[in-house]
Amino acid sequence: MELTRRSFTAMTGGAALTLALAPGAAQAAAAAEPAAADGAPHTVAFDKYSMVIDGRRVVLWSGEIHPYRLPSPSLWRDVLQKLRANGYNAISIYVAWNYHSSAPGTYDFTGVRDLGLFLRMAAEAGLYVILRPGPYINAEVDGGGFPGWLTTTAGTARTADPTYLGHVDEWLTAVDAIARGHLYTNGQGTVVLYQLENEYAAHISDASGRDYLAHLYAKVRADGIDVPLFHNDKGRNGYWVPGSFPTGDESGRYLYAFDGYPSPSGNPPDWGYFGSGGAKGGSTASPQTPGFVAEFGGGWFDPWGGAEFGGKGYEESRRTRDAAYERRFYLTNLANGIKIHNVYMTFGGTSWGWLPAPVVYTSYDYGAAIDEARNATSKLTPMHQLGELVQSVPDFAMLDRAQDVAASDPRVRVYHLANPETGAHFYVLRNDTTAAVDCTLPLATPAGEFTAPVTVGARDATLLATGIRLGRRTLLHTTAQPMLQLTVGRQDIAVLTGRTGYPVEAAIACAEKPRVTVLDGDATTAYENGALTVRAGLSGLTRVLIEGGGSQTPLLLLLADDEASSRLWRHSTPSGPVLVRGPALSRTASLHGATIRLTGDTIEDCEVEIWAPRGIRQAAWNDRHLPLRSTRSGSLISRTDLPGVPQVPLPELTGWRHAPENPESAADFDDSDWTQATRTTSHSTTPVPAGQPVLFADDYGFHYGDVWYRGRFDDATAANTVSLSYSAGTQGLLMAWLDGEPLGTHRLPVPAKAQDTQGTWTATAAFAVPEALRTAAPHTLSVLVRRMAHEEDGGARDSHKAARGLTAAVVPGAPVTWRIKGATGTEDRVRGPLNAGGLYGERTGWHLPGFDDHAWASGSAPGRRQGVSWQRTTFALRVDEQVDASIGLHLDDDASRAYRVQIFLNGWNLGQYINDVGPQHTFVLPNGLLRTRGRNTLALAVLSDGTTEAGPAEVSLKLLGSAAGGVRVDPVSSPGL
Ligand code: GAL
Repeated sequence: MELTRRSFTAMTGGAALTLALAPGAAQAAAAAEPAAADGAPHTVAFDKYSMVIDGRRVVLWSGEIHPYRLPSPSLWRDVLQKLRANGYNAISIYVAWNYHSSAPGTYDFTGVRDLGLFLRMAAEAGLYVILRPGPYINAEVDGGGFPGWLTTTAGTARTADPTYLGHVDEWLTAVDAIARGHLYTNGQGTVVLYQLENEYAAHISDASGRDYLAHLYAKVRADGIDVPLFHNDKGRNGYWVPGSFPTGDESGRYLYAFDGYPSPSGNPPDWGYFGSGGAKGGSTASPQTPGFVAEFGGGWFDPWGGAEFGGKGYEESRRTRDAAYERRFYLTNLANGIKIHNVYMTFGGTSWGWLPAPVVYTSYDYGAAIDEARNATSKLTPMHQLGELVQSVPDFAMLDRAQDVAASDPRVRVYHLANPETGAHFYVLRNDTTAAVDCTLPLATPAGEFTAPVTVGARDATLLATGIRLGRRTLLHTTAQPMLQLTVGRQDIAVLTGRTGYPVEAAIACAEKPRVTVLDGDATTAYENGALTVRAGLSGLTRVLIEGGGSQTPLLLLLADDEASSRLWRHSTPSGPVLVRGPALSRTASLHGATIRLTGDTIEDCEVEIWAPRGIRQAAWNDRHLPLRSTRSGSLISRTDLPGVPQVPLPELTGWRHAPENPESAADFDDSDWTQATRTTSHSTTPVPAGQPVLFADDYGFHYGDVWYRGRFDDATAANTVSLSYSAGTQGLLMAWLDGEPLGTHRLPVPAKAQDTQGTWTATAAFAVPEALRTAAPHTLSVLVRRMAHEEDGGARDSHKAARGLTAAVVPGAPVTWRIKGATGTEDRVRGPLNAGGLYGERTGWHLPGFDDHAWASGSAPGRRQGVSWQRTTFALRVDEQVDASIGLHLDDDASRAYRVQIFLNGWNLGQYINDVGPQHTFVLPNGLLRTRGRNTLALAVLSDGTTEAGPAEVSLKLLGSAAGGVRVDPVSSPGL
């Protein structure tokens, strides 16, 4: 049946959507064209099955990536190209309000914060964008994305409180002004969906919640955002479905989405066609909008402190959510009708500077498909296979649940779906047991029922299809998962995939006996009753050329095991698709006369094979001529192998100089320009202690990083102890000095799970005052608080407003007056508000390139001393321009030593190492910040409690990955002194 305008309107009931579907859109055999910004107007709509973009059904196969977790714009392009090449057609991004705003009214979208540049690169890479600017995002960032200054404002955040909404509107005005210039609808970009808020469950049933969402909706529309809007419901509660709050816009431009982070050790949940439990578990939450998971676990974040504290390390996240997990869980999602599928995270990146929320350390690798060092992992392979499938098999975008069928072995769960227009059938087979299962399954095929023998791996899943087009021919059945079908030049190409060693059978309709040639690998074929059956054991790449048999156009059938399939790269050109095989990555392909120009990466030596439109006879690889010969597969292949990546030698880090710091601890330090702590009221959720001034750092404009206090009192005769209460986030600490003498250090405990359920991380440190200092003279108490991030505010309880810094101080018998010093976040416009805190060295530029350290002592040992010391060195790199080397800084030491290190590369704060907590030892140094062909400045700020020697004993550069190729990397501005 052709989908007509009338039948479509009847289906959706939505007047605004009648323009949406072009006739035949669901049947179109050609692969969907990638997203592009072409300056022309476009339509973005949806119905209950899928997004409908320019009248074509599109399944969005999306990966989450956070621009703010990769502070080097050139590398955005690298990751975006890697996603596109690996079958993703969309990305989803949060925009973190705090990253762009150091103060009310100040919004910065330049340099590493250039959101417009990021969105342009996404469009250039051919990716649709799901934009998620909050205002609240969670995302394991400080305050869940709320700027530090918001903690000092009146009104409850995440409600319809007018003061809060005033700030929100300012943010949305700023971010929407950028977003508006990158909408797909106006042809200026590829943004097709926009999220309001995130996991907003707190006020679902009260007016404040409804008014808040209604306000956000109206504001975003007033700002000119005309793509569909949605909210991300925490775990399919059926919250904020269409109609649950007023939009003043009932034309169906709002859809329902939810997220899911199920345990990988359990069985995948059903939440759509096969779900139960009404709105919560079933398909009824929002029957008129397509299944949409705005976030689905692609790994998991890791807490400070390693295994004994619940942390497992990112390799463990990657192991438990491996390729088989992806197939098992994501295929279940697809079986349940999900047509907008976003995996959180797909590239996690780095929570650099003071970005990490208390729950995480610097690395946000997440165990994602692309690791923090930008390396492809084996998790990309299933994503690549499924991404190409949903894009090149259009039948997939419109599926209904079909009649239940059972496999011969009940250990295999079967989901059966069918396209009501084309008659194609899809089967997801899932095995939740720990042994592979061989079974049979009755398939509905265009040639009648067929009993297919199938192997489903242990705790794995696969997808089978019948009745789909493979170019001009029809696939009757297959026991392997279809990956790709396309027409290149004079031939059709189809790819079926599976695990190495699995038997494959594929039957293709042929009106008469075709000519069949097995070009590569072992396969047998038989023709009977209008069907050509191909059988093979999956191993590498098996090629079967099918000619004639009722079609003028040859079909090249490629049976690819996982490894072989991961080396197949599809590109679109104005003259039609291109398929490249061989290299570790094929980034781009463009046609210039008879030449195809390819860019990409190699790791090992490899051949390059190209299927290109007619007339292409020559190729260039990364701008170098690539001699070719033609093959019987209808392709062109390199005459010699492309070279892999050469060795990347890295220098040792030597020439260290070091110096002690913390002059603030000395009795005679001049603090006359520090802020006097005289406030008596605060908007913090932390109560101000009776009779004491407000000491919370935020109230004095110091929102991130370390903060110093100096207190004066006149008489210490009664002061046998000093009690200092503070609130700092997990891993916070406080150290104190009286008249320059260290009183000691207090550390908040590593978060064993049961502790501090309030999440405020407060403690009172009581220090004994040495007898000799208990005099009736004036005294100075110096206190350094390493304050970690503000809490997130997942429960909409204003928990980001829990104080940070000192909260109360008691010196018996003596009132104390305080001055306070920290960083305002406006000091360094280039590196932004979250880069540096209030250490003396940070305030005076010790972390910056160009700081003159020649008078410092040589060597690196800060010794045993309470306080801060710094060490600095420079190093030069000479990485070949054609090589993308991903380099990290590795720190190691005896784990009993009590100290921590902030790492500054060319002035950029790339993370915090806590030697006796862990687990992170290696810190990614992103190229662009890192000068791979030039000199770099490394500065380490070491904070130690003086109970042990401080380190770090070992500091070295480590190669985390390398490839010949890469993208051009522009240096990121790194101003010095
Ligand atoms: C989700 C949330 C994300 C992130 C994720 C865990 O529930 O929406 O922002 O916090 O959990 O990584």
